[in-house]
Amino acid sequence: MAANLSEALAAPAPGLPDRALMPHHVAIVMDGNGRWAQQRALPRTVGHREGAKTVRRIVQACTERGIGVLTLFAFSSENWRRPRPEVEVLMNLFLTTLRGEIRRLDNANIQLRFIGEPAAFPSTLQDYIAKAQRRTANNTGLTLVIAANYGGRWDIAQAARRASEEVSAGRLRCEEITPEIVHRYTCLADLPEPDLFIRTAGEQRISNFLLWQMAYTELYFTDRLWPDFDPADLDAACAAFAGRERRFGLTSEQIARGRGA
Ligand code: FPP
Repeated sequence: MAANLSEALAAPAPGLPDRALMPHHVAIVMDGNGRWAQQRALPRTVGHREGAKTVRRIVQACTERGIGVLTLFAFSSENWRRPRPEVEVLMNLFLTTLRGEIRRLDNANIQLRFIGEPAAFPSTLQDYIAKAQRRTANNTGLTLVIAANYGGRWDIAQAARRASEEVSAGRLRCEEITPEIVHRYTCLADLPEPDLFIRTAGEQRISNFLLWQMAYTELYFTDRLWPDFDPADLDAACAAFAGRERRFGLTSEQIARGRGA
């Protein structure tokens, strides 16, 4: 048994890796809502509603596990091409989920952030997104990032555009543009990059998610459909992450000796 509180807090929960080996930032592509519903002969939209319940469970699981940042891909720039009724259901679901959850998120000290282009969303949703971000801006617990109308290529393009605006304004010279400078203009520049990427439902691709930010992220794929994904699945992903050797371009020997030696 832990001798004191700090020891107890430092000790991993049963079945979880040591805290030092846990990912700080987890990014998830929540795939498989449609298939979950189709397997039950239900409309795809029922799968999205079940998916929203999974979001609630996994957010709570992340707070319990001391994960610092959770980024969820809720709606990609490409999802507008889905049938209009499905897009409408998703917009309503985002709004009702936000309305229903904001007090709980705030009470749990969770900071809610959105990345992407909200301007394309219905104005009520845009207003609520702004309100939810303002309300939780000073919270210091889990940072919950919702990528909505987001695309990794869009993110890199908007960073390039903003950097070139600085050049036009004479505040930056072209030859000063380095990866570090571009990074400053990308979404999430103030947060650590994702350590662990999880995609549910069997597909093994990134689908235009955080292309810039995931250069050194560990990738984890599971066949579990998002509505079925539960805290034990999150733990399995964290355990797989803990077993990876992250080299960031170095050799194993350098890592063993101490970074970069
Ligand atoms: C992908 O599954 C899922 C989406 C495009 C929507 C994700 C939305 C939610 C989980 C709802 C709630 C989210 C928040 C943040 C409140 P899919 O429809 O592509 O599934 P399929 O590949 O089986 O067809």
